[in-house]
Amino acid sequence: MRIAVMLSGRGTNLQALIESVHGFDAEIVAVASDHEDAPGLRHARTANILTRSFELDQFERRAARDNAIADWLDENEVELVVLAGYMALLDDSFIARFRDRILNVHPSLLPAFPGTRAVEQAVAYGVKVFGVTVHLVDEGIDSGPILLQRSVELPGYSDPTEVHQILQAIEHELLPEGVRLMVRGAVGRDPANPQRLIIEP
Ligand code: GAR
Repeated sequence: MRIAVMLSGRGTNLQALIESVHGFDAEIVAVASDHEDAPGLRHARTANILTRSFELDQFERRAARDNAIADWLDENEVELVVLAGYMALLDDSFIARFRDRILNVHPSLLPAFPGTRAVEQAVAYGVKVFGVTVHLVDEGIDSGPILLQRSVELPGYSDPTEVHQILQAIEHELLPEGVRLMVRGAVGRDPANPQRLIIEP
């Protein structure tokens, strides 16, 4: 399967995918960013993966930018889009073009703490159990059907940076696991409740 990764930041999740999925279960054929200086693009270049950045100020509106990204992904025959720390909202038309083929990793146990600064929100709320969610992307903010979740009890932690570090180690396992399930065609929807995903053995 031909995969694209979209990122905005450091790209540690991209690196985890390069190490555990790329060339084994699937090919990462393209990496897109909304920032040309996103450090994560370097991981892609080191692995000889095509990269391109789509800065918002090069376009009239976000919809036009997202359309250009979708065109580029189509040109590269991408079948699955993985958001690995992509911090911009995606236009509805982009989501429609890749319906049920966009996976996202989020550093909270959704539906708790969607959006940006999820770990900071969770720490400020005083939760004792943190976690990571891998889910399909729909038009809402981190509201799409959940594929995988893993929790971790951290009752004594009050530093978001420390919590995020622990969660990232979980992300680096859970996101590749989610990608492998999608590649295998093992993900379906519960006919009785389409918000609920079913994993076939
Ligand atoms: C990850 O922790 C990911 O869960 C988060 O951004 C980080 C990117 O790290 N994404 C979101 O918060 C999306 N709402 P990385 O650049 O090192 O992979």
